[in-house]
Amino acid sequence: MKKLIFILPALLLLMSCQPKESGSGKNDMDAFVNDLMSKMTIQEKIGQLNLVTPGGGILTGSVVSTDVESKIKNGQVGGIFGVYGPEKTRQAQKLAVEESRLGIPMLFGSDVIHGYKTTFPLPLGLASSWDMKLIEKTAQIAAKEATADGIFWNFSPMVDISRDPRWGRISEGSGEDPYLGSQIARAMVKGYQQDDLTRSNTMMSTVKHFALYGASEAGRDYNTVDMSRLRMFNDYFPPYKAAVDEGVGCVMSSFNDVDGVPASGNKWLLTDVLRNQWGFDGFVVSDYTSVNEMIAHGMGDLQAVSALALKAGLDMDMVGEGFLTTLEKSLEEGKVSEADINLACRRVLEAKYKLGLFDDPYRYFDDARPAKDILTAENRKVAREAAARTMVLLKNEEQLLPLKKSGTIALVGPLVDSRNNMLGTWAPTGETRYAVTVKEGFENVVGESVNVLYAKGANISDDPEFAAKINVFGPKIDIDERSPEAMISEALAAAKKADVVVAVVGEATEMTGESSSRTDISLPECQKKLVRALAKTGKPLVVVNMSGRPMTIGEENELAGALLQVWHAGVETGNALADVIFGDYNPSGKLTATFPRNVGQIPIYYAMRNTGRPQDGEQFTKFKSNYLDVSNTPLFPFGYGLSYTSFEYKELVLDKSTLTNTDEIKVSVSVTNTGNFDGEEVVQLYVRDEVASITLPLRELKGFQKIFIPKGDTKEVVFTLRAGDLAFYHSDLSFSAEPGEFTVFVGGDSNASLSAKFSLE
Ligand code: NOJ
Repeated sequence: MKKLIFILPALLLLMSCQPKESGSGKNDMDAFVNDLMSKMTIQEKIGQLNLVTPGGGILTGSVVSTDVESKIKNGQVGGIFGVYGPEKTRQAQKLAVEESRLGIPMLFGSDVIHGYKTTFPLPLGLASSWDMKLIEKTAQIAAKEATADGIFWNFSPMVDISRDPRWGRISEGSGEDPYLGSQIARAMVKGYQQDDLTRSNTMMSTVKHFALYGASEAGRDYNTVDMSRLRMFNDYFPPYKAAVDEGVGCVMSSFNDVDGVPASGNKWLLTDVLRNQWGFDGFVVSDYTSVNEMIAHGMGDLQAVSALALKAGLDMDMVGEGFLTTLEKSLEEGKVSEADINLACRRVLEAKYKLGLFDDPYRYFDDARPAKDILTAENRKVAREAAARTMVLLKNEEQLLPLKKSGTIALVGPLVDSRNNMLGTWAPTGETRYAVTVKEGFENVVGESVNVLYAKGANISDDPEFAAKINVFGPKIDIDERSPEAMISEALAAAKKADVVVAVVGEATEMTGESSSRTDISLPECQKKLVRALAKTGKPLVVVNMSGRPMTIGEENELAGALLQVWHAGVETGNALADVIFGDYNPSGKLTATFPRNVGQIPIYYAMRNTGRPQDGEQFTKFKSNYLDVSNTPLFPFGYGLSYTSFEYKELVLDKSTLTNTDEIKVSVSVTNTGNFDGEEVVQLYVRDEVASITLPLRELKGFQKIFIPKGDTKEVVFTLRAGDLAFYHSDLSFSAEPGEFTVFVGGDSNASLSAKFSLE
């Protein structure tokens, strides 16, 4: 009897999931899915809409809990996440393929946010490289490693624009700018999917969180979002749309509401905009229990919110099982139709078809691959280069950096020897044991030639209650048994013996990320004290700030001779930091999110609109738009970052003064490396539309190029502008450019002053 039970599903699998040729066209896919769906019961169709995570019982016996196991066998699971490794994923897939009635394979997903095991810098850091090829490469490596471990559906990229560094998840995105964010969205989708989902080293990408999650009120996670449609379309939607244009396979809905309706049940968002306007043809997955969470939003009970989500265009329900437990009842009561269920089921099956799972459900489960493909020396090399390229030099008085590879250095601070804090937040597949600490990086790069004196100097935070919140997933803040005074004394003793002091301070990794919003984004007090004490010694002071968000570090900027922003830079953090500090790599990172002077300035971003009463310059003027207690300008603007060399911009030339709808303008500028080091510069082009039918930003990024210029050399950089580049959404949400005068600015940050004018006819 047991044998029969086993053979029957296998036979049905062969009959139903007849292998088909990869790469066959849409007609073949439709025919295949139609045929399969004709054999499915309504319960099996609803089962495809269910995304589970294994729960307990992973390590012994079945890779999934008994509850999940029986659901898989009953055809009640469409996808699973949180199972890793070819052996375990194969075991779980077998349950679906060999033991469910129709043998439909499952999707295996995960959050592979900034690398799989080779952890790259967190996304806000990667964005600071402004290097699209590099970003694509990191995504490609992540896909190769993840698929080697049986994961072929990725919950990345996160492209939520955020202009609020209180929000912990700003670390997971690309920062504040829609143009840059769109380029990065494309690079990441391309990196994961490589235009070919049928290959076993590419994975399906999910763009998230649709939509507007980065604008959570007050920077508090999961909070309400309310914004005008103009702002949505012009400032916040572009990166999601760019991912769709790049062919992203999946979209994840966000936790927040949009225009009064939670995103997971928002038909305007998920159907009218996403599918009807943008032409998205993949499937939409909810965020973790975001369907159920609509109950708390006040949208009704589980049955009501599940029906709302399905009818809005949401296809797969992550973990909450509202679909699984209520849709059949809703169908009987006429609250959803069979067509609604069919549509969602079809989209999930199509994703499986595109991934080639019906050809071979085990195609990603190759036992030989992990050893060959994961955490290879080659991948680590890319991680080291990537980490160095994300670091942003914020200040460098009297060329304090790079340091010489000689003499005595005091290497001080709570993040110097803190392996648990190198990878960065949202690196669930990374392993801290592989991370290179700052101390090790210094030893690797200058071990023999420099006398490095190490002292912890301070805890990340002295507050045990705060530490407990940060340490939920393991020790990140470890409070020393010594008193704060004893730790500072030790650091000062080292500083006094040294020629130069390098203080590595900042945030523990879990001080940013999901559910890690802060209202005070300065250094914890004990670290501030350490920096003050070190500055008092009069020794040259380099402050290295490690964080997942822009921070209010004005005081440290004043006290330090050099200030370097390094984010949490991944598995090679220590080596890469030493490469930068000692000049083996000349820093080229530029900020992609504005650093405020204080939290009161938030939201602060470069692409602001003018007021009717703009303040001219820094000076406070009564009845102008300003603050009594702080200037309008940020601590560090968008696009800003120094190099060990210097660049001079000259000769901004436009090849014509009038642009039409059918031609283009060439904008050229010459950039000279006037310093003593070879270096890279991110040449940025901003445009201001002088008169328009709606208020527009004072300037908007419209192009950038990262170029290498040997010392003493000059390079001509040419940008092309077309009318389409000047288009924006109008009050009626039509999209076009308006004729009139434009100013173009070119330079090394968003304050670029070299300018020229042209007009659009
Ligand atoms: C919740 C997060 O918001 C989302 O980004 C993530 O993909 C899911 N959990 C799954 O882990």
